[in-house]
Amino acid sequence: MEFENIKGVIFDLDGVISNTSRLHSDAWHQVADKVGTEWTESLSNKLKGVSRMESLELILQASSLESHYNDQQKQELAHDKNKDYLRRVENMTKNDILPGIESFLESLKQNHYGLALASASKNSARVLEKTGLSHYFSEIVDPTKLSKGKPDPEIFATAAKLLRLAPEKCLGIEDAVMGIRSINAANIFSIGIGDKNILNEAGIVFENTELLTLSNIRSHFDKK
Ligand code: BG6
Ligand code: MG
Repeated sequence: MEFENIKGVIFDLDGVISNTSRLHSDAWHQVADKVGTEWTESLSNKLKGVSRMESLELILQASSLESHYNDQQKQELAHDKNKDYLRRVENMTKNDILPGIESFLESLKQNHYGLALASASKNSARVLEKTGLSHYFSEIVDPTKLSKGKPDPEIFATAAKLLRLAPEKCLGIEDAVMGIRSINAANIFSIGIGDKNILNEAGIVFENTELLTLSNIRSHFDKK
């Protein structure tokens, strides 16, 4: 694969662009406490990239509680979590952009790459607004219009289509295992951010967002 063929970059939001993974996790922790599920790092990792209702199901399943709540009660728990999360989002500023991301976006823009957002979050537009990054993204996939969430390829395949690029001309960036699987299944080259043992299905893994630069990505391709 040639680096020169890449024309577009598709980003996950939570945990890649902004530190909102932490905010989601803190808000879910409250829900876990409320229903009596023990909050562990492994449960927190499992929720990454997963939709709101599926996340709630995973929390309930962790203590075999899924049948103890009816649909309306589940909607209420999810609603309360979202209210709590949005309260945290309202306090966000540019300081909540992960290190190096703004300069990476700027260099992609200067070099005329197409940029799209492929987030499972229904709150992604608000997070981009709060961090002042909306203007970088010409395309934002609306998760309410998708039939399947990550790890299905639909969200990343849709983003490539919106950019009018073949999947092979795109890179996808994710911090979650479910997200890496979605990128790979869409036939897009995947870049993981985080622990390389956890994200071992990714094409390349950078330990943190500061290492996410065009020259680091290019040197990976050149070595191949
Ligand atoms: C993903 C996050 O990006 O969006 C998950 O990684 C979150 O933690 C999911 O649950 C859905 O977000 P929202 O804002 O629609 O509840
Ligand atoms: Mg993420």
